[in-house]
Amino acid sequence: MSEFVVRAAVEGEERATRDVLVQALHGQPTGDEKWARIAPAWPAATKFAAFDGDEPIGVTSSFTTEILVPGGRRVPFAAVDGIGVRAEWTRRGVLTELMAAQLPDLVDRGHVLAGLHASEATIYGRYGYGIAGRMQIFEIDRAKVRWRSDAPRSGRVRLLDAADAVKIVPGVHRSIGLRRQGNIGRPDSWWLNTHESYVLDGHRVAVHFGPDGADGFATFLTHTQRAPALADWHTELKVRDLHAANPAALAGLWRFLLGIDLVQTAYGLARPMDDPLPSMLEDPRACRTISVEDELWLRLLDVSAALNARTYGRAEPVVIEVADRRLPENSGAYRVTADGASRTDATADVRLDVETLAMLYLGGWRPSLLAEAGRIEVFDAEAPARLDSLFETAAEPWCGTHF
Ligand SMILES: CC(C)(COP(=O)(O)OP(=O)(O)OC[C@H]1O[C@@H](n2cnc3c(N)ncnc32)[C@H](O)[C@@H]1OP(=O)(O)O)[C@@H](O)C(=O)NCCC(=O)NCCS
Repeated sequence: MSEFVVRAAVEGEERATRDVLVQALHGQPTGDEKWARIAPAWPAATKFAAFDGDEPIGVTSSFTTEILVPGGRRVPFAAVDGIGVRAEWTRRGVLTELMAAQLPDLVDRGHVLAGLHASEATIYGRYGYGIAGRMQIFEIDRAKVRWRSDAPRSGRVRLLDAADAVKIVPGVHRSIGLRRQGNIGRPDSWWLNTHESYVLDGHRVAVHFGPDGADGFATFLTHTQRAPALADWHTELKVRDLHAANPAALAGLWRFLLGIDLVQTAYGLARPMDDPLPSMLEDPRACRTISVEDELWLRLLDVSAALNARTYGRAEPVVIEVADRRLPENSGAYRVTADGASRTDATADVRLDVETLAMLYLGGWRPSLLAEAGRIEVFDAEAPARLDSLFETAAEPWCGTHF
């Protein structure tokens, strides 16, 4: 018999399961005041937990939203958050059992795709999640920043007080909309748990107003390291969350942020791989990419529905054979054409596992590169080039929402 039991969490187990998560991530147990505020964002209904007797020792959670896929359709999406196992229970199969319970449940709930942000990149491939989008971190030397004369310039920026920052920004995000593949909707629970916590934690929010009203916002934090001599004080500004409906709003927000007095260094955290900011500066090296990291890990829960939801580029069809150990009903051959995808009995041109398919799905990796890397088994030598054209997207995928 197993030493622990995995089951759906029930009402009354919310706070204890959250504390398992928080401590696994090296945080403090949630205080009464914070719990009173965020409890609605941590319902039992979407959680599975592992128990040693009555005591929760592991948890996985999710919230329901939509994700934009190539071609512009919004698809039901489970944002998997809140995974943690108590330190004395790790490497005993707890996460594997939690995933075995959660994955079919997400399928039953009608989600087509699931996604997560991984604390470490070696954990989730075995459950069929693949890196579908990457992000970069900018370090900006404010003293070197000069805007090119042709960089967009319009609108104005207003700094919000804390109450307005909580009230106004969700509507601005909604009106900006999902703009590129990988973007997800943000339910009220996300705003409560994440954005409101940023604001209470000292982050400030700037909103950009263009000709048609609010069209961008930036949530940022400044930190000053004090030294004995005034000249050696160093202030950093970290932009945690920035969304803009158009390049003018993006430029307007950065013009404002990089114009704030006494700041030496600014960071753009979790920016898309094709963020145009460096191209708007006289000296593009004023804005350096200091890290490229995996952002959204994607899981195709219903391969057929997922392949049908996106559009494809022009190329001759390719038959792909997909292997999915955890959700075997997904395993089989699919014919991907410029007009869509469907199950087939035809002989496969390539074979890949569902994790690798997740890497291709939003257009973040070139299939022929993954074939060269050995992740796609090739039976028809022409197939990888055709897959390149079929799966290619104009913009880089980017989720842009941390959960
Ligand atoms: C990551 C975490 C949830 C894994 O839980 P766990 O119960 O130890 O995982 P399991 O015992 O089920 O391990 C399953 C497999 O993943 C591997 N694995 C799990 N965590 C790993 C890690 N951090 N690094 C490398 N491999 C890991 C195990 O070795 C095992 O491999 P196997 O299938 O080849 O035997 C747990 O270590 C944890 O809570 N860590 C701290 C918080 C955290 O990082 N949460 C994730 C947030 S996204």
